[in-house]
Parts: sequence; structure tokens; C-alpha cells
Amino acid sequence: MSSNTSKNSRFGENLAPDWLHAGLDHVWLPYAQMKTASLPLAVAATRGSRIVLTDGRELIDGIASWWTACHGYNHPHIRAAVERQLKTMPHVMFGGLVHEQALTLAQRLAALMAPADLGRVFFSESGSVAVEVALKMAVQYWRNRGVRERTRIVSFTGGYHGDTTGAMAVSDPEGSMHAAFRGLLPQQITLELPINEASEEAFAALLAERAGEIAAIVVEPLVQGAGGMRFHAPQVLRKLREAADRYGILLIFDEIFTGFGRTGSLFAFQAAGVVPDILTTGKALTGGTLPLAATLANQKVFEAFWSDNPADALMHGPTFMANALACAAANASLDLFASEPRLEQVAQVSAALSRDLAVCWGMAGVKDVRVLGAIGVVELDRIGDLDGLRQRFVEESVFIRPFGSIVYLTPAFTIEPGELARLTTVLIRVVAELGRT
Ligand SMILES: Cc1ncc(COP(=O)(O)O)c(C=O)c1O
Repeated sequence: MSSNTSKNSRFGENLAPDWLHAGLDHVWLPYAQMKTASLPLAVAATRGSRIVLTDGRELIDGIASWWTACHGYNHPHIRAAVERQLKTMPHVMFGGLVHEQALTLAQRLAALMAPADLGRVFFSESGSVAVEVALKMAVQYWRNRGVRERTRIVSFTGGYHGDTTGAMAVSDPEGSMHAAFRGLLPQQITLELPINEASEEAFAALLAERAGEIAAIVVEPLVQGAGGMRFHAPQVLRKLREAADRYGILLIFDEIFTGFGRTGSLFAFQAAGVVPDILTTGKALTGGTLPLAATLANQKVFEAFWSDNPADALMHGPTFMANALACAAANASLDLFASEPRLEQVAQVSAALSRDLAVCWGMAGVKDVRVLGAIGVVELDRIGDLDGLRQRFVEESVFIRPFGSIVYLTPAFTIEPGELARLTTVLIRVVAELGRT
């Protein structure tokens, strides 16, 4: 992607802001083949469920900025909390120092985890790091107990847990965008979720044979997100819990996508009625405003680190962990979950998605239509031209970002019914067009 490419874009010369041409040759964009990627959209502002582009166009947002902006953009309550915090202390290191926003947040998060006793909160600045911390906790849990053989993590096909090395190693080796790293990552164990007789048998056989080398099982509860928005039933999680208990293995739920209402309950584990030993959260934790993530551990895990031996400590401490601005935003976001009817709004979004997307059943090229909470998915047999499809949505003034073979919506829970109807109408029209080509 060179500035030549950008000048050939749909921007008229006079509409493209100077910073776009000047900066594009120096920035490295995510998940993009920089040589062939189409020009990213230049954004001037966001508000509610709208993305305002520098050329004046306004898009209705169907993705909520990678599933983070659960209250919509620029919620005044979060903005005010961050502004207040900015005046007194944007950041202070968390080593040897603590502050009110972080400790209040830790206490509030622990309370929200009921009925789980996930009472210890370790803060970091991204979901991937929260996963790294969870994996590190799990392996060191065993080492601190004198068991050095239990170092492997069991994870599942279709799973995605982030882009850092440890997180990549527990993501689907093929389907998680990390295939280029096959053979180069720490050796973990990936198999099918136990969703039917054959996969249950394979899972049982694995544990019977290799439990002695397994530290933990990691799973995204109820929905595997970036690996393809695949849903599974609560009883699958129950099976994982039973097996973990039988063999003394730790169970990690990665709720970075599913947490904070996305699947219909505040956390997916609460709807499933299955409690993990370690849980990761991020994304919507700050209402999509500032980078913050957390790894929560139960008392059993924490106790393995509680000792007179300094070598038993958890040696992790990101520079910006528990950033005060981010913690203030997260506290304000939790206020909104308490004071505004978010979960009712999720139920309304869910009902609208189920009702409206049902029409895609039976359309040419449609393989599946599924909805859970505020997640609506239309899975196609295949998407030939992903980039073209993304641009087609922009032409219709919506921001929908299909990947793999799925077109999906994960809007803000506060989206106006008319805006949601526009998203589903456009999605249906474009899927129908695809079926005709
Ligand atoms: C389930 C899950 N875990 C981990 C991550 C990684 O989070 P981050 O992108 O903040 O590093 C993601 C991001 O999509 C995710 O969906």
C-alpha cells in the first residue's frame, strides 16, 4: 500500500486529509498484506453507533470496534470519568504503588464473578497479555506445587486467544490466522471440543493418557469468536469442568469476547452454570474506550503462589498495568451496566437479529444462520472476494467486516432499533446479491 495507491482511492484529492497520505507509507496495519490491501477508511469521529469519516460519510457500525464499544461510542458517563481522572493522575506505575481506581475495580470485578470465587485480579493492557498471564499462572501453579511435568495446555479447534506467542500456541493452528507459525510455537495440544460422541471419546482418551503433562484446559465459553463465531452448548463446558476436576487440571475461560453481556448474561460462564479456575476479560471492560484487560484467579490458584519463597511469586508486571485512566473508564463502564438496562438491550438486539436474519435461511450460498446474545452470524459456503464484500457494505453506509466465510453483526447494545434494522437489511441484501453471482 503506497501513497500512490491511496491517491487512486475513492477519495477526491481535496477530500483526503493530509495526514492520510503522509502517514500511510509509515504505518503497518493489522492483519493486512500491505502491498495489496485496500485503503483503510479515514475516521474523523465516532458517536453512538456511528463512525464519521473524514470525507463526511457516516457509517452505522455493526462491529462495535472489535466487540468493545458495548455502550456505543463516546458515552458521556465514561468520558466524564476519564476527564476527571486525567486531571489528577493519568498513570502511575503499579509496582510498589496502588491507586483507588484499580483497587475499586478489582473489588468490583471480583464481586461480579459470583458464584465463582475469582477473587484475585491481575491487570494488563491487552487481551493477548491477559491470556499469557493466565497460561503462566497455570504452569507455575503446578511448578510451585512441585510438579514440573504439567506444562502443556489443552485448547480447541476453532479457538482464538490472541496474537502473542503463548496465545497463538493455544489458538487453532489452522483457522486462527497463525498458520505461518506452524511448527514454530511452544508445543500445545489442540483437539475438537467434546461436542459429539467421537470428539468426547478423543477428549477422554487424551486425558486418560496424558493428564500428567497437562496444566490447564483453555476455552472461549459458549462462543469461539475470531475462529469463526462458532457456538457450543453449556453441557460442553460442563464436560470440560468434570474432566478437569477428575484429573486435577485447571480450567481457564477466555471471556475476552464473551464477557460483559455479549452472549446475553454478564459473563458466559454464569449462563452456562460452569465455574472456571482462571478467567480472562478485556475488550468491553472499558466500554471500548481504553486498553485494559484482566486475568482473574480463584483462591486455589492464588494459594499456590502464597509462600515465603520469592521464587513462588508471579513474575509479571506490564509497564502500563492498571493504568488509572483505563481503570476509571472500566469503573464507569461497570456503573453503566448497573444503572442502564444493558442486558435487556442485549435481549432486544438478540430478538431483532433472530427475527430479521432468519430470512437468510435457504438463500443460495448460505450454510448457517445463528444468533446468541448480541451476536448474529450468517455463515456462507465461501466468500470469494472478502475485500470487495467489505467495500460493498461501506457503499451501503454500514461498517460490517466479514472474515473467513462468515458475515456477522456484533453491534453496540445501545444501538437504535432503526440503525439495527438498517444493518440487517443491508446484510440480507448483500448476502442475496452474493447468492446470485
Ligand atoms: C477470545 C479472545 N481472546 C483473546 C483476544 C486477544 O485480545 P487482544 O486483541 O486485546 O490482544 C481476543 C481478541 O479478539 C479474543 O477474542
